[in-house]
Amino acid sequence: MANRLPVDRVVRADGSVDWRRSPGGLVSALEPVMQSNHGAWIGWPGDTDSVVEPFEDDGLTLVPVSLSQQEHAEFYEGFSNATLWPLYHDLVAKPEFHREWWDSYVTVNQRFAEAAAATAAKDAVVWVQDYQLQLVPAMLRELRPDLRIGFFLHIPFPPAELFQQLPWRRQILEGLLGADLVGFQLPGAAQNFVRLVRQRVGHKTHRDTVYLPDGRVVMAKAFPISIDAAGFEKLARSEPVQKRAAQIRSDLGNPRKIFLGIDRLDYTKGIYARLRAFGELIADGKFTVEDAVFVQVATPSREQVDQYRILRDDIDRLVGRINGDLGRIGRPAISYLHSSFPRQEMAALYRAADIMVVTPFRDGMNLVAKEYVACRYDGDGALVLSEFAGAAEELRQAYLVNPYDINGMKALMLEAYHADEKDLTKRMRAMRKTVAENDVANWAAAFLDELGAGGPTHQKVLRPSRRI
Ligand code: G6P
Repeated sequence: MANRLPVDRVVRADGSVDWRRSPGGLVSALEPVMQSNHGAWIGWPGDTDSVVEPFEDDGLTLVPVSLSQQEHAEFYEGFSNATLWPLYHDLVAKPEFHREWWDSYVTVNQRFAEAAAATAAKDAVVWVQDYQLQLVPAMLRELRPDLRIGFFLHIPFPPAELFQQLPWRRQILEGLLGADLVGFQLPGAAQNFVRLVRQRVGHKTHRDTVYLPDGRVVMAKAFPISIDAAGFEKLARSEPVQKRAAQIRSDLGNPRKIFLGIDRLDYTKGIYARLRAFGELIADGKFTVEDAVFVQVATPSREQVDQYRILRDDIDRLVGRINGDLGRIGRPAISYLHSSFPRQEMAALYRAADIMVVTPFRDGMNLVAKEYVACRYDGDGALVLSEFAGAAEELRQAYLVNPYDINGMKALMLEAYHADEKDLTKRMRAMRKTVAENDVANWAAAFLDELGAGGPTHQKVLRPSRRI
């Protein structure tokens, strides 16, 4: 179960309906194991007020859960993305607390739980994904005590000092405790959760285990998510992608170095600060617009939420100012693209870029950093990475920066610009090994193995029939 289905419902101009595969690693990781176990995916089809019956797609049963317009505003844009999202990302923006948003969050979580209860076979395994559905584990356990329930949080889990602000903190913790296994990106997040459970709910805990009064045991552990590394590398090596990468370089005027940022247009991603740092490097005379260009792809996201609109305007203005001040004819300092691209175009961008800049203020993992590494099969390219992205715990050989420190970012972007090939190769080889050895298939298998460890029936059902 995830807030979104792996496909989006799109109504064409002539009124006919189309389902478009929503991109993302989660589907490719889970597809094999789900197909071999008659899996069903429960999620929101991405529009409002449509009532769609479950249907089959590529060997998967898709079970749409519909949202009304009001629920879209209160559950999705409101509680999920204007309360929980900023609260869980270190208060990078101020979270809003509204009681009617909470009510809607409860209602929608209950609807998801009921859909799962009606879909799952006896003793089935249900894996609930992410912050939009934190009440589902307990609601589902209430309806179906026979199920084995896992939960994975894709975003950070905040320290107690921040989480405590939430008026509904106890309900959220109790919601999560409905699961047998609660997974996080990093060990620190699992520790935050266990500590909060001890302090706020009063359960006995020991290391990664919570002991409930009814004898049930809940495990909280880290499972850092990853990407389909081999799939990305294969795509990057393909002829169309190589040709496209060369085309991109030449369209940009074959500068010495191409810097690249690819993010959802989100205030947690640190896009503004990084573009400022780049603009200042040119203004300081460290390199010219003939030497280097910054390609920033910002994928439209949550566009009706105020903070996202404000951010878009801020970035539009900053890019305009930097290009106006520093650009020359045919040579903007920043090549800014406000759109989303298919995987193939992303791979071409990764191939074309010399320096990938990933500088979120806080990020659960950040898969773009891993995708870049997977595409650099020649062992070249530099990764400038925020210390506050989950990926920094694994990609130690990146140029690690504090995204709040603009001078520090400038220094490291410049170091990456001047780095010699040997140093880059040493760093990239080490990072490539890490990403290749811990791909998304291993992530899914590790979580499901741990979840299945509870009993022989589950163990048998869970082991994927082929390596995923
Ligand atoms: C993050 C979240 C996901 C979410 C995605 C896109 O990666 O962890 O749960 O689906 O952003 O955001 P959206 O609001 O468009 O689903």
